[in-house]
Amino acid sequence: MKVAVIGLGQRGSNYIRIISLFCKDIEIVAVCDKNKVITDQIAKKYKVEKKFYDEKDFFGAGKLADAIIVATQDRDHIRHCNLAIDNGYDKILVEKPVSPIIEECVALQKRAEEKNISIVVCHVLRYSKYYKKIKEIIQKGIIGDVMTINHTENVGYFHYAHSYVRGNWRDSSVTSPMIMAKCCHDFDLLQWFIDKKCLAVSSFGGLSYFRKENMPKGAADRCIDCKVECPYNAMELYITDPLHKATFLRFSGRILTGKSGSTKEERIEALENGNYGRCVYKSDNNVVDHQIVNMLFEGGVTASHTVTAFSKNFYRRTHVCGTKGEIIGNDLDGKLTVNIFKGKSKTIGTKWIKGLGHIDGDINLIKDWCKLIQGKLEDDKDVTYLSHTIPSHKIVMTAEESRLQGGKVLDID
Ligand SMILES: NC(=O)c1ccc[n+]([C@@H]2O[C@H](COP(=O)([O-])OP(=O)(O)OC[C@H]3O[C@@H](n4cnc5c(N)ncnc54)[C@H](O)[C@@H]3O)[C@@H](O)[C@H]2O)c1
Repeated sequence: MKVAVIGLGQRGSNYIRIISLFCKDIEIVAVCDKNKVITDQIAKKYKVEKKFYDEKDFFGAGKLADAIIVATQDRDHIRHCNLAIDNGYDKILVEKPVSPIIEECVALQKRAEEKNISIVVCHVLRYSKYYKKIKEIIQKGIIGDVMTINHTENVGYFHYAHSYVRGNWRDSSVTSPMIMAKCCHDFDLLQWFIDKKCLAVSSFGGLSYFRKENMPKGAADRCIDCKVECPYNAMELYITDPLHKATFLRFSGRILTGKSGSTKEERIEALENGNYGRCVYKSDNNVVDHQIVNMLFEGGVTASHTVTAFSKNFYRRTHVCGTKGEIIGNDLDGKLTVNIFKGKSKTIGTKWIKGLGHIDGDINLIKDWCKLIQGKLEDDKDVTYLSHTIPSHKIVMTAEESRLQGGKVLDID
């Protein structure tokens, strides 16, 4: 089976690597990215037959494969999915968020239904062993009926600064509101776990800290010229931090320089001139650095989700409260504690790969999708089809609207 990919950034290249490692019966036959260097590097590395540097040429060439992966940026997904459909693709894997404009998501779903097109959204967390285990425990009824879920996404101070102050997702008008860009996975999980309709939401939050007025006295506009001791020092985060402190930032040379295998000198030059070397208090960011969303579901079930920049590590913490017991877990170590009220407590390990984020979810998503497009997936009930994503995307955007209205309670729909 042949697959084409548009968008060869972090996500697109990650999926190509996973296919090449784990899905030997899938062939990547065409790639497209407006970054010529990356496109050439990937086409060469994976021996891809056709490469394109412009979406017009890529889609102008007609249907190049049996299926397509759309891994471009947030506001491009809808256009690229529609162009793929125009060209006859009927199997699409699209990155999240599908779009921050709900009407666009609904129109795409309508088109997909009419033409019998399979669109799967990359809600990778659902495919990880850790989150699958939570769903399995809930489904088995071990903790009774779910009444409340408290969920927190700790973005990590360095990850937040990288993506939401200096990086791609710092301006909501260009990408998405932060609650959509970062947390649409979390709302997908909450919707999946609770499996009831969300009726209303209320949300507070804002951009409180990463602002000019909080710039330390004597700080420079760029870290490279700065003498102030600071956890956001780009030179340390990207270049000199010792390996034991290594975060994904140490492996982000490509994001800094726009190509793989950059030298230290090239990375330093990128910090001298590019977005990632800017003082975090003097960027052009406008997205929130913390937000809370309260939700009411059918049957009086409630849930809350908090996202915050202010944590040392990046991980999610989940507390599912049922009528007979509770599940408490964090995906930092992948351990789940199940407490049954009139029974024993049990701690379950889920083989979460520490420090590598949701890599097992990424791998399982791709493996499942590859089986799905070949008609070999036995059970597709938990596949993250676009139709499953729309309800959780609606919660997210209604929550954002509530935040903008000072926390006003808003009905979904
Ligand atoms: N599923 C997840 O867990 C997850 C995690 C992070 C990001 N994302 C989402 O995945 C998407 C991609 O994120 P990323 O981190 O790979 O970003 P990225 O910026 O590294 O990659 C996007 C790529 O698309 C290319 N591109 C942009 N417009 C194009 C066009 N018109 N034609 C061809 N190429 C074009 C860019 O040059 C870039 O290489 C985003 O929507 C992001 O929100 C998903």
